[in-house]
Amino acid sequence: MELTNKVAVITGAGSGIGRASSMKLASIGAKVVLVDFNKEAGEETLKLINEQGGQGIFIRADVSKSEDVQNYVNQAVEVYGHIDVFFNNAGIIQKFAPFTSIEESEFDRIMSVNVKGVFLGLKYVLKVMDKQGSGSVINTASTAGIRSEHSVAVYSASKHAVIGLTKGAALEYAKKGIRINALCPGGVQTALTASVTEQFEKGGYIPEELPNMRMGRYAAPEELAEMVAYLASEKASYMTGSVVVVDGGLTL
Ligand SMILES: NC(=O)c1ccc[n+]([C@@H]2O[C@H](COP(=O)([O-])OP(=O)(O)OC[C@H]3O[C@@H](n4cnc5c(N)ncnc54)[C@H](O)[C@@H]3O)[C@@H](O)[C@H]2O)c1
Repeated sequence: MELTNKVAVITGAGSGIGRASSMKLASIGAKVVLVDFNKEAGEETLKLINEQGGQGIFIRADVSKSEDVQNYVNQAVEVYGHIDVFFNNAGIIQKFAPFTSIEESEFDRIMSVNVKGVFLGLKYVLKVMDKQGSGSVINTASTAGIRSEHSVAVYSASKHAVIGLTKGAALEYAKKGIRINALCPGGVQTALTASVTEQFEKGGYIPEELPNMRMGRYAAPEELAEMVAYLASEKASYMTGSVVVVDGGLTL
């Protein structure tokens, strides 16, 4: 796999799967445009990439805000001229709750980042890729996008929506040289799962419904980054609209 002279935009680049994937894409030659809400975290990722000899820039953005999304897309094009890879990855986990206790504000919060953020990223990046006639997009869904877990109905709905957006966009762009796939991680050791453990410890989760860690461990973010790099590269030239599960057997 190699991405020499390619430009990759990564959202949620400051932590977890986004950081590991940014480092992987940079290590195989991509110039990376790191996008995150958290300035310190995003700048730290850039520092790590520079230390390993990679090139990139960081742009602070809230992916749920249209003007921020347009700004990171415009800046990527201004600085590097094109966008070849888009890892549309930023996402948040909901507060675990029985269905009828889920606050309306919580529904809006999850949907605005996990669905609207992914939609806006696609909307503006695809305009650029369409002009180029090429590109690879990877949207981060989840195993919760193909089945559910207890007490996370809204998160699950948001990830089903990511798969819907992926398939709809893939269909439209299949003949235009642009591939769009969804990545479904299971449990990955990141800040996001640390909060899951915390919520579990507070008793908000039903233990019998805990996902089976069939390999006896979470994935390391770097194990997801390998798949991101594969989907980004020409090695995956015949893949579009796929829902790619990397879950250590969780959905078996
Ligand atoms: N960790 C898991 O087990 C797991 C499993 C399935 C799917 N996922 C998905 O993978 C993606 C990455 O998760 P992670 O585990 O690496 O999480 P993480 O919390 O480690 O990293 C997420 C990053 O996204 C950023 N972010 C959050 N909201 C943002 C916003 N509105 N605008 C810009 N940046 C924002 C955060 O600042 C953070 O740096 C998410 O979409 C998540 O739903 C994670």
